[in-house]
Amino acid sequence: CGIVGYLGPRRAVPVLLDGLAKLEYRGYDSAGIAVVEDGVLQVHKRAGRLAALEENLQGRSFGACTGIGHTRWATHGRPSDGNAHPHTDCTGRFAVVHNGIIENYLGLREWLIEQGHTFRSETDTEVLPHLIEHFYRGDLVQAVRRAVERINGSYAMVVLAAAEPDRLVAVRQDSPLVVGLGEGENFLASDIPALLNYTRRTHILADGEMAVVTAGGVQVWDSRGEPVEKPVFQVKWAAAQAEKNGFDHFMLKEIHEQPRALKDTLSGRLAADGSGVQLPEITLAPEKIKSIRKIFITACGTAYHAGLVGKQVIEKLARIPVEVDIASEFRYRQPLIDQDTLVLVISQSGETADTLAALREAKRLGAEVVAVTNVVDSSIAREADHVLYTWAGPEIAVASTKAYTTQLVAMYLIALHLGALRGTVSPAETRQIVTELKKLGDKAHVILNNCKAIKDFAADCSRCEDVFFIGRGLDHAVALEGSLKLKEISYVHAEAYAAGELKHGTLALIEEGVPVVALTTQQSLFEKTVSNIKEVKAREAKVVAVAMDGLKEVSKVADHVIFIPNTHPILAPVLTVIPLQLLAYHTAVARGCDVDRPRNLAKSVTVE
Ligand code: G6P
Repeated sequence: CGIVGYLGPRRAVPVLLDGLAKLEYRGYDSAGIAVVEDGVLQVHKRAGRLAALEENLQGRSFGACTGIGHTRWATHGRPSDGNAHPHTDCTGRFAVVHNGIIENYLGLREWLIEQGHTFRSETDTEVLPHLIEHFYRGDLVQAVRRAVERINGSYAMVVLAAAEPDRLVAVRQDSPLVVGLGEGENFLASDIPALLNYTRRTHILADGEMAVVTAGGVQVWDSRGEPVEKPVFQVKWAAAQAEKNGFDHFMLKEIHEQPRALKDTLSGRLAADGSGVQLPEITLAPEKIKSIRKIFITACGTAYHAGLVGKQVIEKLARIPVEVDIASEFRYRQPLIDQDTLVLVISQSGETADTLAALREAKRLGAEVVAVTNVVDSSIAREADHVLYTWAGPEIAVASTKAYTTQLVAMYLIALHLGALRGTVSPAETRQIVTELKKLGDKAHVILNNCKAIKDFAADCSRCEDVFFIGRGLDHAVALEGSLKLKEISYVHAEAYAAGELKHGTLALIEEGVPVVALTTQQSLFEKTVSNIKEVKAREAKVVAVAMDGLKEVSKVADHVIFIPNTHPILAPVLTVIPLQLLAYHTAVARGCDVDRPRNLAKSVTVE
């Protein structure tokens, strides 16, 4: 989501709309603004793109010089006028725009309802204005502080109160928020592009910080309530670069968003005591889960590759046989489905025509369907019986990155959920996996900070005709995704092989200098993969290995090794793929390709 705020001599509404237009890449399900006119809070919001709101506001004039605005990427609650931000309390005195996820909103909502509050939306955000109203005793700053003490999760929020129209209160925790510093005017925004028409002087708020912004000044406190002297960050980026957060391409930005996205996917879905997962959105009865005899996973492209990991994970943890099908095959091959079959469809966009048709076919044949998707209220989300959202945030680059890793996390959550109900995964192993799931975001961060070797290898790949990816088990599934990434954006031919299969044909193509990416993260298969590396080395291939920390022996056979931080073996794919995404990215850049919009491809394929 994107949020904006303005205080100063100008009329607020045009400034807010202009800022929102620059933030639409952060979400475009609905848009809204709130201003105070003659002491009364006025909120205007509309489902759909910003243009729908602009049309609704046409012909009206607002004198207000303070206001807040929001452009939404739905997480909790479908895109609709009612779920659009800003949200207000029952008395209509407080308006809030929010980006992030309030994890404990259900409990707070119940408690507020007991206190007499009435809710009008399905969002997590709506608890915020109600909480603020509950705590308000004439000082907005105090009320926001007390509200913040009660919430868990990630948030960047800006609050406007009818009684205090000359200031905005903003708080951030794990979601971005920037103050723009003008002359006699100040701004708030999720991201720098919204500010660039007005100022390049900013304060970047840190986690836990609260800012009270007036037209004349900005005061910032840290989470303990101590005042903070914020340095001024002078923005040097060009406007086009700013919406990529300073990265050269959306793809690189999205690769770097993975630590955050992984945490968001897990948000509210792990039991607080680490004993398991909670997926209230999957309302399959326990008896139904126990009676499942087969699972089909169906999807296209990268989502299909997430399904290949899903198969291995579900079979291991829930002990149910899983078949994975490309959606365009599934829909025409008369799959053997009955009422004891569960069908899982995976789709970032939720709109892929083949996947939607596969879903419909599965339902026609009597299966219950669980969808894993990133887009709330997409066609696939609407037609499935149960939906697990990945909450990766909008993905703009055609080549999917954060959508894939968050789909993998969804696979782990589903496998643990099914395994717990079927009694096929021990409490001890569940605890281990849950503990490691929580650390994935930070471990992804470590990989992103150490990518020099992969950049060097990309320079080699950029001069080659063919690149091979090999791996066994889960590593094979990831090899397929690594190879697809490279083909999609750099146009270098790549193939992924089950490492043991290489000698049955493809080894003939290995000759001096051919790049081979060997994935070896699984201790149990390590020696086998090492012998496959030796096979290609004997033909003078140039090998870069991606190995789990601790598997040191691989350094003796590969030319370069990229170690990923140690994790539970089944979670390795989430980390292993990151160097491969970077390999594809840097190869494409070195070849001068249009990284975000590769030739002949589309982000969402809504035709057969
Ligand atoms: C297109 C995209 C791929 C994507 C596939 C499935 O081909 O270029 O990146 O993996 O569609 O998309 P979906 O939205 O269903 O995950």
